[in-house]
Amino acid sequence: MSLDNFRPSFIYYQLRATPKPVPYEGNDLSGKTALITGGNAGLGFECGRQLLRLKLSYLIITSRSLSRAEAARKLLLADKTTQRVNPNAKVDVYELDQERHEYISAFVEKLKESTAYLDIALLNAAINTPKIEKSPYGRERTIQINHVSTSLMSLLLLPLLEACPRKPANLTVVAGGTNTWTTLPAKHHPKMIHWMGDPASKGFDVYANYHNSKLLNLFWVQALAERVSGADVVVNAVCPAMADTNLFREYPRWLMGFAKLIYFRWITWSAEACARVLTSGVVKGRDGHGSLTTGIGVTLPFNPLLFNDEGKGIRERLWNETIEIFQKEAGFKVDVPAKL
Ligand SMILES: NC(=O)c1ccc[n+]([C@@H]2O[C@H](COP(=O)([O-])OP(=O)(O)OC[C@H]3O[C@@H](n4cnc5c(N)ncnc54)[C@H](OP(=O)(O)O)[C@@H]3O)[C@@H](O)[C@H]2O)c1
Repeated sequence: MSLDNFRPSFIYYQLRATPKPVPYEGNDLSGKTALITGGNAGLGFECGRQLLRLKLSYLIITSRSLSRAEAARKLLLADKTTQRVNPNAKVDVYELDQERHEYISAFVEKLKESTAYLDIALLNAAINTPKIEKSPYGRERTIQINHVSTSLMSLLLLPLLEACPRKPANLTVVAGGTNTWTTLPAKHHPKMIHWMGDPASKGFDVYANYHNSKLLNLFWVQALAERVSGADVVVNAVCPAMADTNLFREYPRWLMGFAKLIYFRWITWSAEACARVLTSGVVKGRDGHGSLTTGIGVTLPFNPLLFNDEGKGIRERLWNETIEIFQKEAGFKVDVPAKL
């Protein structure tokens, strides 16, 4: 782990401002259906609670464990504010493991059996691990689950979003402020995902792969927004800063104990505040198409690669390499939108 993996300026940005709650005025979600992947815990759970308080009619959350998802469902429906303002809210739970392409495809097919459309899809599920472990495809797991699987999910959900009777629907990807913590060393390699996914690559750093994956989420959203009409589906990404959630569960206990004592206690935002960033993304309308944002009242920096010519080239190569992976590895057809 190099010092490159930590930017002290992050502390400054978190101390300077906290995201403001998304107001109910102008954001009444009555009658709408939303999916949150990884909605049983952390920021996804808190965002689900906020959407229900904005009168969302039907919320679908996922977890790798149905019992964890069911426990979250009960907690969401027991929320006093939701009971008062949205007493008929419905919450369903689904099992989803983003480890394999066919699990994602099976999940989407099952989802289609219970809903004909989605107003909102929040792609939030992700991991952050210090362990070098490989996915079934031989690729390091962070890159697999956070980038490859999230991207696949975005393409497979497009038909459900495009079928939404209210236009535009909203697809929000949860990236993260740490997209600035990487210079993307893989960018000169002709196969970037392959490079980041292979622990044998010279300079491979598993800690950096989380930050890399969050930058890839942002590139993917920019590329997808160029291929989907914002009049039909608003594609955007949100970047929360840090919050104390289960995301760091695989890090050494002594390190997390220290972080909890000082960093998480005094500096970071609460999970509830962090989730406001997610909520601000899912309520975005047509103007938010292709946007990368950090919540209401907050300005966090973004990786400069996202806005310069070098980054444009990286984005296209990343899109092509990711699509190639689906074509080679997925045993089912993935519809790929063309550039508009
Ligand atoms: N916390 C932060 O400081 C922070 C900062 C910036 C961005 N973010 C981003 O915010 C999002 C939510 O993170 P969080 O902090 O809320 O973390 P979290 O508490 O660990 O929640 C992650 C969610 O993803 C699910 N998940 C984990 N592995 C999965 C897999 N292989 N397949 C499908 N689902 C899986 C988890 O559910 P199960 O374990 O029950 O399956 C859980 O619901 C992530 O995209 C993260 O990168 C977090």
